[in-house]
Amino acid sequence: ASGLKGRDFLGLADYKPEEIRYLLDLAIDLKRKQKNGELYQPLKGKTLGMIFEKSSTRTRVSFEVGMYQLGGHALFLSRNDIQMGRGETIRDTAMVMSRYLDGMIIRTFGHRNVVELARSSTIPVINALSDLSHPCQVMADYQTVLEKKGKLEGLKVAYIGDGNNMLHSLMMGASKLGMHFASASPEGYDPDSDQVRLAREYAEETGAKIDILRDPREAIENADVVYTDVWASMGFEEEQKERERAFSGYQVNEELAQHAKPDYLFLHCLPAHRGEEVSEGVIDGPNSVIFDEAENRLHAQKAIMAAIM
Ligand code: CP
Ligand code: NVA
Repeated sequence: ASGLKGRDFLGLADYKPEEIRYLLDLAIDLKRKQKNGELYQPLKGKTLGMIFEKSSTRTRVSFEVGMYQLGGHALFLSRNDIQMGRGETIRDTAMVMSRYLDGMIIRTFGHRNVVELARSSTIPVINALSDLSHPCQVMADYQTVLEKKGKLEGLKVAYIGDGNNMLHSLMMGASKLGMHFASASPEGYDPDSDQVRLAREYAEETGAKIDILRDPREAIENADVVYTDVWASMGFEEEQKERERAFSGYQVNEELAQHAKPDYLFLHCLPAHRGEEVSEGVIDGPNSVIFDEAENRLHAQKAIMAAIM
């Protein structure tokens, strides 16, 4: 019905606003079905391969459980346990996997690996996080906001912190969904300029607004949604100390959050470092919806798999 069968899910830039809305509505519907104990198994007999080059708690478990709930089966393929870890090319891996599987997810470093896997596969590929983007997370994030606020269009999302994969995907999603996105990152940690340019192009069509700022106070002003992420993402661990210095002043704490709307939602993709990018008072406080958000990874990804596989 969606017309999405066979598509890859590599980033929100590839999806039209109405396709994203369709997937969000489907996620909410599948969540309701699951809570009511209704079986929905459109992927019976299908198998998902899950290639991981980085650690994961939420992504791995939610994809594996989601595939099971949809009637299918999932295989966890750690990079070091498959021949890719010994140098087998992504292309050969993709060609072979396409003969066994019905879909693949990949969590990797360079985004070009995701693109290459998708290009060389004859089955749908889902980006389960790259250094460039984390679109599955953002589907769960905006599902959470939609559930709590009843709408997305016109809401202000403030992102405080590193110009990383989370910033890029949140910004891209906001641009497609007609939201006001404002970020604040310290000098040297700005988002990718091509991503910003692309998001601004989409924003022109949807009425979204994209503000890339330096000052957290300005970015958070009047925000409906406040988001932050770790200062050192996976692969950047050795920069931890230097980043702690650069990001001082970028902690989301009670003092900063008082400039958001009183009923703001606090979101974080997790894992979090309390006392670094966010204070305990905020992440464990009354505005925080981090566990609903984490739960929605399951429902949002079930929607994606059901639609494309
Ligand atoms: N948010 C997220 O992707 O978590 P994991 O790294 O645990 O999968
Ligand atoms: N930006 C973080 C997100 C983890 C879910 C990372 O890439 O490590």
